[in-house]
Amino acid sequence: MDVLLSAADLAAGIERLAAAVRREIGRRPLTVVGVLTGGLVLVADLIRRLEGPVQISMVWASSYRGTATAPGALELRLDLLPDLTGQEVLLVDDIFDTGRTLEALVRELRRRGAASVRSLVLLRKAGRAEVAMQPDFVGFDIPDAFVVGYGLDFDGAWRHLPYLAALDSADIAAARAGQRSHDAEPAPQADPASLSRA
Ligand code: IMP
Ligand code: MG
Repeated sequence: MDVLLSAADLAAGIERLAAAVRREIGRRPLTVVGVLTGGLVLVADLIRRLEGPVQISMVWASSYRGTATAPGALELRLDLLPDLTGQEVLLVDDIFDTGRTLEALVRELRRRGAASVRSLVLLRKAGRAEVAMQPDFVGFDIPDAFVVGYGLDFDGAWRHLPYLAALDSADIAAARAGQRSHDAEPAPQADPASLSRA
């Protein structure tokens, strides 16, 4: 497991994202729609940097099953959404991989009458997009690797890591063979200084 982004790197990225959003929206009210479960940590950190009036709502999306690292059928749960008629919406997800999740959600939020729907992701994976749209705000462009931490999981594990790490094939094989405890914090192969919390 290699650390790609330290807690300090992530905090700086969130600060840049929040500033970019406010430059575009100004002080107008914003409805943040976060995507569970991977967007949980990002939404919590981002909203505390967004100045001006903000409302928060969450949806749930999943396209992964168990120990697969390739997306499967997309499942959405939108029943917690308030009436979005006339709202300026910011859809917030952890990562833009194929883009199918974000594309489907943007389409659905527009269909529900939002005045505008912008999308924000912490991460965008290189060379993976399968849709025509791109997110409006991107925190970091990363290589095509399977990443965990800061909300992102592998088969339910490692979401709680305060940094972002890339799994290598040995990590994935070990996890599939059941040698990984879901509670174990991996020993990252990185300079310990880069792991200090922001
Ligand atoms: P997309 O629909 O292919 O863009 O996939 C987006 C969703 O897949 C994200 O919201 C994540 O939940 C999940 N995902 C994609 N890549 C990764 C990864 O590298 N690690 C963990 N989850 C991922
Ligand atoms: Mg997700």
